[in-house]
Amino acid sequence: MKRTTYAGLVNEDFIGQEVVLKGWVQKRRDLGGLIFIDLRDREGILQLVFSEEFSPDALAVADKLRGEYVVEAKGKVVARKDDEINEKMKTGKVEVDITEAKILATAKTPPFYIQDNVDVSEELKLKYRYLDLRRPEMQKNIILRSKVIQSVHKFFNQRGFLDIETPTLTKSTPEGARDYLVPSRVYPGSFYALPQSPQQFKQLLMGAGFDKYYQLARCYRDEDLRGDRQPEFTQIDMEMSFVDQHEIMDETEGLIAQVMKDAMGIDVKLPFKRMDWDESMARFGTDQPDVRFGMELKDLSDIMKDVDFKVFSSAVKNGGQVKAIAVPGGADKYSRKDIDEFTSYVERFGAKGLAWLKVTDDSFSGPIAKFFKDADIRQKILDKTEGKPGDLLLFAADNSRVVAQTLSYLRVTIAKQQNMIDESKFAFLWIVNWPLFEWDVDLKRYVAAHHPFTMPNENDVHYLMNDGEDPHKAYAQSYDIILNGLELGGGSIRIHTRALQEKMFEALGLTLERAKAQFGYFLNALDYGFPPHGGLAIGLDRFVRLLADRENIRDVIAFPKNSKAVEPLTNAPQPVSTKQLDDLGIFVSDPTRNSRDEK
Ligand code: AMO
Ligand code: AMP
Repeated sequence: MKRTTYAGLVNEDFIGQEVVLKGWVQKRRDLGGLIFIDLRDREGILQLVFSEEFSPDALAVADKLRGEYVVEAKGKVVARKDDEINEKMKTGKVEVDITEAKILATAKTPPFYIQDNVDVSEELKLKYRYLDLRRPEMQKNIILRSKVIQSVHKFFNQRGFLDIETPTLTKSTPEGARDYLVPSRVYPGSFYALPQSPQQFKQLLMGAGFDKYYQLARCYRDEDLRGDRQPEFTQIDMEMSFVDQHEIMDETEGLIAQVMKDAMGIDVKLPFKRMDWDESMARFGTDQPDVRFGMELKDLSDIMKDVDFKVFSSAVKNGGQVKAIAVPGGADKYSRKDIDEFTSYVERFGAKGLAWLKVTDDSFSGPIAKFFKDADIRQKILDKTEGKPGDLLLFAADNSRVVAQTLSYLRVTIAKQQNMIDESKFAFLWIVNWPLFEWDVDLKRYVAAHHPFTMPNENDVHYLMNDGEDPHKAYAQSYDIILNGLELGGGSIRIHTRALQEKMFEALGLTLERAKAQFGYFLNALDYGFPPHGGLAIGLDRFVRLLADRENIRDVIAFPKNSKAVEPLTNAPQPVSTKQLDDLGIFVSDPTRNSRDEK
């Protein structure tokens, strides 16, 4: 029997037709001489009816059916009686009277119910991922991902981009994370690196004359995992020659609009807003602001520099800042205990405390209110913070980094707690005009804010090229695309001259010798007529996660790793045989370090 349609697609239009269906038994109800089977396939669930009247043989088959058996069934689609209509089901107005049925496969009882919102550990779900993926919500996510991918290909094809693959066994590309290494058998002691992104290859493709490139590229980064990070992920990667940053941003907007239309049926309004990095940091304390709600950070340094409260005045005098957010109606919503909890949380950002004031009808209350007896100062604070009676003012006083991290964390956390975010919105935003470098607190040195191939702003090139100037003052022709407060993607115009690229490496602390040893092939390429170019990459997994409205990117990846970088289905990574190690010339000095329990 050949399948005529998906079970989940059968609706009133099919009434009177004979259909052949194949799928899994979701549920079986035996009413004695009458058996109902809910049949599930990737499109949904449909009710099949088996009875003596339609076919005794089929009824006998139905008698044997159990959950997750695979079955094929033929029958006639009929309308359900009015009182049997199930409005909640897409197929709830019809059912199929089965005349022929066959078991294609039997099944053990699965370790968890194949249904949405099933309450079992993620570990168990990942171990039986093929069962987890059968659940309707997971099918929806993976189908959405496929739609996004199709739409991406369609867009780039229409726009004349070439889909070109780049190697995954390659040399390390610095994107800021650790590399995954692959040992070479032919050259024991030598390793390939799995690419953190195709960055250098896509630039070399520009050098090769393929002026519009795209690829759905697998990338590998060995970094601490979080909800929006996987060791192995996919980028929608693009690069173009002879363009400025605005043309790349326009192209990206076109891509996003197309995907939103094709995959979600949503018309997004173009162009997206563009905000300078400096402004984003000042107003939101982050370079990935969620602009779906207000509660912006307000700078009170000027007002606080001479107040009696030393925490504030000395912060300003020492070159720091005092900033605040005003939580609307927060005075009643947050107790001292809640604020204490916030205070201990923000210690991780280096905050030495969290000062607060409650705005009353005619003054302030709280332990530091005594420092604000001057009505003039109080008014200035209210004007600046737009605080109203009943609001809670939360203050951070420190260097700009600590203040930004503290208040941006509080802003988002409180907005979530107070349901201030319109979750139905897709708020896209460009952050442009980034610094070229950023100070890495852990490494205690400057690193590239985007990556080492990023072009400074035209007017800032001199900071790098002229001896004696400070390269770290330069801003860059780079841009990030933000969706709902999360970095979706980023890119830049690239350096295309050898002299500037060498200066860039130098500013990152690489001697010319080391730069040549590590990137000699790349520097050489710039000697042979390299076109001006730039590009961008969007994290596909993150994009689909946001579209699917899921908490974790694992939910939109068919076979993801867990938070400990283990893939529980196959249980990778695994120790390998001594023979394999010998072939590679590798000796594992301390196999006990392999123990997963320690991690
Ligand atoms: P970047 O490093 O910003 O840029 O990466 C681009 C986008 O990839 C996604 N992403 C990730 N997604 C899941 N798991 C991860 N571990 C992970 N790391 C990054 C993010 C991010 O915005 N070569 C440059 C792009 C360019 O300049 O063209 C690059 O890789 O959504
Ligand atoms: P103290 O003077 O240490 O008793 O602190 C008074 C209030 O100021 C407390 O609520 C502290 O949490 C808060 N506080 C202390 N240091 C800072 C700071 N750097 N920024 C913001 N608030 C602070």
